Order: sequence, then C-alpha cells, then structure tokens
Amino acid sequence: MDGRDLVRALKGFGTEGGRRAWRSALRNRRADAAGLPRRGPERARVPGLLAGTEPAPGGGLLRFARSELLVRVTVGGAVFWSWDGASAGPSYAVPGGGPEPDPRAVLEPDTGGGWRVVSQRVTVGVSRYGAVEVRTPGGAVLRRELPPRWWEPHPGGPGAGAGARAGGRWMVRAEVAADARFFGLGGRAGGPRLRDGAYRLWNTDPGGAFGPGDDPLYITMPVQLVVADAGTHLVFHDSTWDGRVLLREGEEGAGSGPDRPGTSELRMDGGPLRCWVLAGTPARVLRGWAALTGAPAVPPAWALGYQHARWGFGSADEVRRVVAGYRSRGLPLSAVHLDIDHYDGHRVFTVDRERFPDLPGLARELDGAGVRLVSIVDPAVKVGDAVHAAGREVGAQGAFVRDAAGREVQGEVWPGRCAYPDFTCPEVRAWWGGLYAERLAQGFSGVWHDMNEPVSFAPFGETTLPRSARHALDGEGGDHRAAHNVYALGMARAGWEGLVRLRPGERPFLFSRSGWAGMQRYGGTWSGDVATGWEGLRASLSLVLGLGLCGVPYSGPDVGGFGGSPSPELYLRWLQLGAYLPLFRTHSALWAGRREPWEFGPEVERHAAAVLAERERLRPYFVTLAHLARRTGAPYVRPLWWGDPGDRALRDCEDAFLLGDGLLVAPVLEPGVERRGVRLPRGRWYDTATGAAYEGPGRVLLDAPAGRIPVLARAGAVLAVRAAGAGAEAGGGVVPEAWAPAPGRGGGGVVVREPGPGFEPGVVERYAVRWSGGEVVVEDAAGARVEDAVVRGADAVRPAGVGPGQA
Ligand code: GLC
Repeated sequence: MDGRDLVRALKGFGTEGGRRAWRSALRNRRADAAGLPRRGPERARVPGLLAGTEPAPGGGLLRFARSELLVRVTVGGAVFWSWDGASAGPSYAVPGGGPEPDPRAVLEPDTGGGWRVVSQRVTVGVSRYGAVEVRTPGGAVLRRELPPRWWEPHPGGPGAGAGARAGGRWMVRAEVAADARFFGLGGRAGGPRLRDGAYRLWNTDPGGAFGPGDDPLYITMPVQLVVADAGTHLVFHDSTWDGRVLLREGEEGAGSGPDRPGTSELRMDGGPLRCWVLAGTPARVLRGWAALTGAPAVPPAWALGYQHARWGFGSADEVRRVVAGYRSRGLPLSAVHLDIDHYDGHRVFTVDRERFPDLPGLARELDGAGVRLVSIVDPAVKVGDAVHAAGREVGAQGAFVRDAAGREVQGEVWPGRCAYPDFTCPEVRAWWGGLYAERLAQGFSGVWHDMNEPVSFAPFGETTLPRSARHALDGEGGDHRAAHNVYALGMARAGWEGLVRLRPGERPFLFSRSGWAGMQRYGGTWSGDVATGWEGLRASLSLVLGLGLCGVPYSGPDVGGFGGSPSPELYLRWLQLGAYLPLFRTHSALWAGRREPWEFGPEVERHAAAVLAERERLRPYFVTLAHLARRTGAPYVRPLWWGDPGDRALRDCEDAFLLGDGLLVAPVLEPGVERRGVRLPRGRWYDTATGAAYEGPGRVLLDAPAGRIPVLARAGAVLAVRAAGAGAEAGGGVVPEAWAPAPGRGGGGVVVREPGPGFEPGVVERYAVRWSGGEVVVEDAAGARVEDAVVRGADAVRPAGVGPGQA
C-alpha cells in the first residue's frame, strides 16, 4: 500500500480493516541496508587491566590495557565519566558540555588496587578492571557499572576505521541495590515503575492508539532514575543512537539468603560511551539535571488553563459553536487547538480558506472571549509546495534530508509525498523558525509539534526515515541512526528560537510529541495517541510521571483518549485526572466521538463544571509550579516518594501523585469505584473535600464518588489560589491558601505570581503558617500577618474509625 492508501486507512481507523492496514504497514520493516557501511565480522573488546593513572581537573584519567577512562566531578556535584577519550561536548542534551570540573576533587588510591575520586556528595570508585562505582559519602554503593564491552569491525574488515559513526556498538551492565526501583527512560506507558523487561531507545509513533503494553513511544531517553534505601541517583548515557535497556529489579534475600542486586544493561548501536550521574535526594537530583540540561520553559499562564483540541473541527463556524458551547454554560476555556484539517491539503503553514476564510479575524474574536488559538505544526513538507521550493534554497545543500547519493529523501505523510527538514543543521533551524511568522500572522498564540519522530508512513519499511539518510548533526555529519532521536529536539529548538525572535516580548507556547533529553528548554509535550480505555487512562499518568523525572515537567494526556468514544464515566475520570496535570487538554481523532463535557449527559456536565472551576481556582498554583520547575527542575507532578524516597511502599505506589509540595491527587483509574485506598507519605493530610485529617505514613480508604477524586492537602502547605469571585486576569486576585499545620508544628510555602507574558522570572513570595492562640495565622516574609489568606483545615475532624497511621 502507498501512503495515500494508508491515510485513507487511517481515516477509517475505527474499522478493523483500517487498523489491519496500519499494523501491516508498521510490521513491514524492510532492512535499510543500502547506504550504510556493511557491518562485517566484529571483535569484542573490554578495557583490560589498569596500567596507569594521571590526574585531570576534577578527577583523573585511568589508562587500561585497551581503553582509557576519564572521571570528572564537576562544580555542583554532577559526575561525568567517559571511555575511549569521549568528551562531554558537543552534546544535544548538555549545552556547552556541562559545568566546570570541581578543583577540590582529585584522583587517589582506593583499596584493592583501585582508585577513587572523593567529592562532597559522591565518591566514584574505579576497580583495576574498569568497574565504576558510585558511592554515597557514607560508603553505600548506589550503582556499580561493570567494565564495558565494545564490538568493533575486525581489522581489515569492511567497517574498519569508521569509528563510532559507523556504529561501534557497546554495552554496559550496571548493578543497583536489591531494593532499588527504576524510573524514567522518557515517556513509558507501562510505568511509572519500570518493571523487568526490555525498553528500546528509539523514538517511535506506535501507529495507532497505545496502551500500557506499547513500547517504545514518542519520547525515549537514556535517562534512568533509580531510587533505593541508600539514595536516589540519575544516570544519563549521552548517546543519541538506537539502544536497548534491559531492566531486572533485584530481590532481597529472605532470612539468611543473599541479596540479588537489580541490574540494568544498556546496549547501544553507536555513539560515545559517556555518562553523567547525579546523586542525592530526588529534589537535588532533578535540580542538578536541570542545571546540566537546561531549565524548563515556563508556559504562558493561559496554557495552564483548560484547552480543547480536535482533529476535524471542520470549519471556523464549528470552532465558534464549540467555544460558544463552553461560554454559554459558563465553563472556562483557555485555548482551542486546530489540527491538520485546518491546513489546505494537509500542508504545513497553509490554511484552508474555504473552511477557515479569516483565521486572524477568528483569532481576534476568540481572544475577546479569552480563548487562544494553537496550531499544529508537522515537520514534513509537501514536495512541490512553496515551502518546499523555499527550503531548497537554504544553504548550499537545501534544507532537506538527503541520502548518501545526495538525493532528497522523500517519504509519505498526511499531505502525500514529503521532504524532511534537517533540524540538525543550524541554517535549517533558522529558516524553519522564520516560517512561524505565518502562524503568528494567522493569529495563533502557540504551536503543537507533531509527527516529528519523524514519521513516514511509507516507503521505508520502518515508519521513519531510512537509517542511511544523511544529517548535518551540527557539523559532525552522520546518518539517521545518530540523528533520529534528536530530530524532534532540533525541531523544538527551531520553533522556540523562531518564536522568540519573532515575538521577543513573549514566552512561546510550544509542545511537541517527540523529543529527547533537554527538550524542556523549548517547552513540553503531551502523551500522544493514547487508547480510549481505562488502561489508556493509567498509561497517560505513567507518561507524565516518567517524563517529569527525566526533566520534562509540562505534559498531559488527550483527555478522553484519542480514538473512539469513552463512556461518560471514563471521560469524567479522565477529566478529573487531567485537571491536576500541567497540560489539561481534551483531544480526539477524526474518527472519534466528541469530547465536549456536555456531550456526556447532564450529570457529567455538572461534575465537569466543578472540575474546570477547580482547575481555574488552582491555576495560580500551576503558575507557581511552572516557575518553580524553571528555578529548581522539580516537576509539577511528582511520584509519592518524592519527599520520602526511603518509604518503600511509596516507591511501589503508581496510582497517585503529588502536585507540587502541597497536594496529593488520587485519581480513579478503574470503573465502578466509589471509594479507593490512598497511600499517604508521612505527616498530616487533609481530604480537601471533607476536611477530615489523616496521619501518614499509612493507607486510608477515601470516598471517590462520581463527582470527585480524592485530593489531599499537606498540613502546613501554602498554595496559590484564585480568590473567590476574582477574574482570570493575569496575576489578579491571587491569594495564599494555607492548610493548618499539625498541632505544635509550623508550615509554609511560596507563591510566584505570573509576571506577565515575558521572560521575567516572577517574584517568589514566601509565607509561613503557624498556630497562635488556637488560631492559624499566615505571615509574609517580613512577618506581617496576611489578612486575605484563606485558612483551611483548622477545625479538621478525623472520621470515626480512621485513626493515625493506618497501615
Ligand atoms: C497524530 C497526532 C494527533 C493528531 C493527528 C492528526 O496522530 O498524535 O494528535 O490529531 O496526528 O494530526
């Protein structure tokens, strides 16, 4: 089948035939041998015995018989090591190659003939055979990476001398504590706790709605977060190539039996063997990760409100009808997203003028109602189109990806035959970024990058570009094997930098389906085409949590699922979850049922109104969390163990999360639920609906009737909320809401008010909460009483039969 048939098949995706067609196209993985160096016979290599050492800034160089290892501790505590002379830069994830070496860290002899570098936060030990250990200052081993193994072309063979670019494969196997749990690796549907199994590192459109069993998905990253009693660490193997991670959780020996460590084996098809490790508390680790890879972009305040997307609005009038539907019911709506159907013939940077005759006019009209327009932007450019012709004039080579013979690589996407801009080329990024002027002129306030794994339905076998396709790789030069995983990252950079150039006074709103480590610098993501079903609902939470731990804090699902029609119950539960996630957006496929809250009957509509109103009330809290994420790297949505990584029960709890420091959200992820168990971290927690107080750690059973999911507030927390009756204007009517500290305790928190649309960091207001003469008082940083603060939980009652520390 060719691409056009496939598009037709996709449009009939609801049918079994359509599904079969799509799957068969996916399964059709023809080998892409042409243009790639032939692999030929290979020879394995290990480092061999240690032969000598040499001091180097922040650590030293260790020479082994057949390789050398550089160990460097950097200012701020991040540890870098690399084999075979690989340097930290250039890197797509770590701009500038990372922080300076820490002059206090030196290489010194260790026990057993090994060496070590001691620093304030970690000790890195290296054995005589090249095993690298990361230890806590107290000496506990967080990770032990065994000596790596390389497979290289046999001397004299066809691939000899081509080095890593030809795909020098390597493998490292690491051991972690028996009690350790794995997280991360990008957006994984089967998490957030990554169980035993293989996880591929190759950004992939699963080609149809995905559920928990589908892996890999759109965003993969060689970033692993490991949580154990001994401590938390993040490890990042900085190679963009295709790879596989094989995880096996450990097991603690019962009684006198020995522990079996957890293992993580990473096999990479190429690229340098270099890695970064950060250790400490989860908060410290994520702070360090953001310092390495870049601070997360702060979305505009409106992008933290509720948004409605749809593939197939059909016309401007339909958009008006939907917006009027929200308005007439008093339901808040921040933005409407236009999908590819508003393009002319599905071509990027065009408009179907019959169905959308005056987009700038529509944008102005909606803006008057407080609703922004967001546009999808796909990377593939239709061959023969004006954008294609213009792209061909960029630089000496033209903007598009070519094959080894210099011919443009043309694939099939929605508009038909397409060429692919090479976003790993700076000139191409600059040209592409300039094209967003057209989107701004059409009145769009934000962009939504899609299909950027990148996808080609045909004819290359795998639904992406051939591995032999050539890329600039920012001057390094190479093929798609090295460029694939950073294609979308380059597109995000191009879009972001273009928007900043075009509208310097405004923070762009950009989110992207695919990406890689560091993508948070340019915006967020969403969960892609998640299956409409309870399993999809669960998977969508897994993605948000996993991505947050990889440094990408802004994301959220297609509320209601991408295809089909959710039951009213599923829709409402999804809406209730989405309301507590950073990107809160309904979206659905061309062939899917509607997603407007009023389409699911009056009861759902009534409950949905409460959900949307609560999101609006909490919008200032989301604004605060967005600014805090930029300052500290902490994701808005955090696993329950965030503050208590030593609590093993929390490490295994996957059906609830923390929103910032203050809230614990326990979504309903199954049908027919009226109550659900909620595991609490230590401390006092208030059910925000009933006001009842509970003492953690422990597990409590809470009511979850159709109209709400359990949301708990931490005693002593301060949240930024919209004051009752206040309008949605930027920064207006924001007050601190304080939750009574436990008796005899104090509390506090911060509020960051929206500083306006620009890049100003926003002022952090600090508040303290304490009991004073039987009353809860809130004070600002100067110690003055905050009269307009909202105090809750001061008269909390504990429901009968539920005592402290329910286990
Ligand atoms: C992809 C996107 C989806 C979008 C569709 C049409 O499937 O993931 O969100 O609606 O393409 O553009």
